[in-house]
Amino acid sequence: MILYEETHSHLGGPPCVPKGRKATFVLMDAPNTSDPARDEEWLMRARAYAKARHEGAGPCHDFSHVERVYRLAERIAQDEGADLLVVRLAALLHDIGRGLEPRMGPEPDRHEELSAELAAPFLRGLGLPEDRVEAVLEAILRHRHRRGRAPESLAARCLYDADKLDSLGAVGAARAYLWLGEHGRSVYYPEEEWRDVDPANNATEVDSFQREWRIKLSQLAQRMYTKEGRRLARERHVRMERILREIEDEVAGRS
Ligand SMILES: [Fe+2]
Ligand SMILES: [Fe+2]
Repeated sequence: MILYEETHSHLGGPPCVPKGRKATFVLMDAPNTSDPARDEEWLMRARAYAKARHEGAGPCHDFSHVERVYRLAERIAQDEGADLLVVRLAALLHDIGRGLEPRMGPEPDRHEELSAELAAPFLRGLGLPEDRVEAVLEAILRHRHRRGRAPESLAARCLYDADKLDSLGAVGAARAYLWLGEHGRSVYYPEEEWRDVDPANNATEVDSFQREWRIKLSQLAQRMYTKEGRRLARERHVRMERILREIEDEVAGRS
């Protein structure tokens, strides 16, 4: 029997554990053979851990984002023939470091690294074989294009595409507005208000659904790595484009 303990260390404890208290996760023995019941148990424990880590997160990146990414990643992984256990675990754990990310400072945006740092001892505590631990960590680290880290393994590509898909389509529009609402922004901003703003400018004062589509979201469908990811992204791209057009028509009173 393996016990996995986590306290409020420098990385902070799970939000469900009061400061100064110790959380103990009782985990299974880890035989090396394939065992669906044991995989299910690992996934159940990873889900519970990730859910606790997402407690108190904003609505744009709450645990429902993880659940959607999980379903998409699973679907893409089945289509691609990727290691399902690795993809499922990576999907559950890919954003667990978000709550630790400093809002300001020299490195404000590195939640992929923080997520991998938290996931490593958790996965080893489960007893997951080391090659699979490495594969999950690799997928988590490469779920966003930062510091030249493109997703190279098949599992990393499945997770990358699934995560980006959640920013597209009807759900993508809903999430964009959740974000804008959190930052006091409104429904519609005409192009003349933002077309001359530097695309690298991330200030919330210039944020809008219309601008976000133009500088980022409209390009996502061309940047998918898997066949199924590309197919779903094209569908969602068309849907999102239509939503933007309909918003414009309704704002102008045409519809
Ligand atoms: Fe992320
Ligand atoms: Fe994510």
